[in-house]
Order: sequence, then structure tokens, then C-alpha cells
Amino acid sequence: MYHKQYVIPLILIFLLGFFTPYWYNAMAGKLGYTPSLKEPSGECVENKDWMAANHMLLLQQWRTQAIRYGAEGGRIYHSFTNGKEYHASINTCWSCHTDKTQFCDQCHNYVGIQPECWDCHYTPSIEKPKYTGVNELSKYFS
Ligand code: HEC
Ligand code: HEC
Ligand code: HEC
Repeated sequence: MYHKQYVIPLILIFLLGFFTPYWYNAMAGKLGYTPSLKEPSGECVENKDWMAANHMLLLQQWRTQAIRYGAEGGRIYHSFTNGKEYHASINTCWSCHTDKTQFCDQCHNYVGIQPECWDCHYTPSIEKPKYTGVNELSKYFS
């Protein structure tokens, strides 16, 4: 059986299906939502694209350096991009990226991850408890 009239339409449908992901990828950045980041001026610890891809590994390395080799100078990190030295600590990130919600969270929400680091670690977005002084204790004893 050879239905000549179907051949061309079927080829067209196949091509449409085959190239859809490529068109989608080419257009996604323009049509879709991309997170808008509040970036500080200056330069990051490493080159921007490297950071976007590897910051989680850098933080893991910093953790190991700080915890296992801190006493042996492990807390000093030498950037291979700009040769500067950085203190290996999550807090170093906050010295430039002063707002977690406007920066880190924008990407993390977009890809749908919630790193659990902030259960323990400080971020500038933390609401600090207010303590006005010893007088505050009186309300527990009245
Ligand atoms: C259960 C609590 C907890 C969680 C969750 C946690 N940490 Fe830590 N982290 C610690 C403690 C405790 C230390 C040791 C602090 C010290 O000795 O100064 C530490 C140290 C570090 C350090 C080196 C010290 C510093 O000043 O930054 C890095 C880097 C680090 N953690 C990264 C991470 C990252 C990244 C995550 C998430 C993937 C994470 N941690 C999740 C408790 C935690
Ligand atoms: C000395 C200031 C400084 C420190 C410290 C710093 N950053 Fe950055 N970071 C920047 C700047 C400035 C940019 C934008 C770079 C550019 O535009 O070339 C940036 C860019 C980035 C990007 C890429 C954003 C994008 O648009 O792709 C990530 C991810 C990032 N930083 C994460 C971190 C993390 C995690 C730490 C801590 C380990 C850190 N940064 C420490 C200044 C800093
Ligand atoms: C350019 C987008 C972008 C920015 C900005 C960004 N991240 Fe991420 N981050 C990601 C992506 C994507 C992943 C997940 C990678 C994966 O799962 O392979 C990730 C993963 C992580 C992880 C690993 C979580 C885990 O459980 O292993 C940590 C820690 C982390 N980011 C910290 C930060 C911090 C701190 C900042 C802000 C200073 C930040 N990120 C800013 C995109 C970003």
C-alpha cells in the first residue's frame, strides 16, 4: 500500500515535531521568563559564567577548606580569574551580594531548588530578633 497523498504532509509533520525543541530553545530566552538579578558592580570571586555554573561547588570546596584545613591556612582562597585572595566563608558572598532575595533566590526559585544551607547559616535577609534590653524581661515576670 502506498498512499502518495500522505507522504508530503507526513514529512512536514515529522519535521515540525523534530525541530520544535530547537525553535523553542532559540526563542525561550526572548519569550519566556528569565530571572532578573540585582547584581553589585565590580567583579565576582571568579568569572561570571564560571560562577553561575559552579558557585555551589565553590561553596562546598570552601566548606571543606575551612572545616578541615582552616588552621593550616585553608581559609584563604586564591581566585584563578583575578588572582585576589578571598576568605573562604559563605559570609564573603554577602559582602557584595547584600540581598539574598533579590539575587540568589531569583535563580533558585526559577529552577525550583531550596538549598537548605540557610537553616543554619546567616543571610542578610534574616529577620533579626529585637531585644530592647533587660526591661523586656519584666513582661515575663509580671
Ligand atoms: C545543620 C546546620 C548546617 C547546614 C544545613 C549547613 N551548614 Fe555549613 N556549616 C555548619 C557549621 C556548624 C559550620 C562550622 C562553622 C564554623 O566552624 O565556623 C559550617 C561551615 C560552613 C562553611 C565554612 C565556614 C563559613 O564561614 O562559611 C561553609 C562554606 C559552609 N558551611 C557551607 C554550607 C553550604 C553551602 C550549605 C548548604 C548546601 C551548608 N553549609 C549547610 C552548619 C551547617
Ligand atoms: C567582591 C564582590 C563579590 C563577592 C565576594 C562575590 N560576588 Fe558574586 N558577583 C559579584 C559581581 C560584581 C557579579 C556580576 C559579575 C559581572 O557582571 O561580571 C557577581 C556574579 C555572581 C554570579 C553570576 C550571576 C549571573 O548573572 O550569572 C553568581 C552565581 C555569584 N556571583 C555568586 C556568588 C557566590 C555564591 C559568592 C560567594 C562564594 C559570591 N558570588 C561572592 C560580586 C561578588
Ligand atoms: C545565575 C543563577 C544563580 C544565582 C544568581 C545563584 N544560584 Fe545558586 N544555584 C543555581 C542553580 C541552577 C543551582 C542548582 C544546580 C544543580 O542542581 O545542579 C544552584 C545551587 C546552589 C547551591 C547547591 C544546593 C545544594 O543543595 O547542593 C548552593 C549552596 C547555592 N546555589 C548557593 C547560592 C548562593 C549563596 C547564591 C547567592 C550569593 C546563589 N546560589 C546564586 C543558580 C544560581
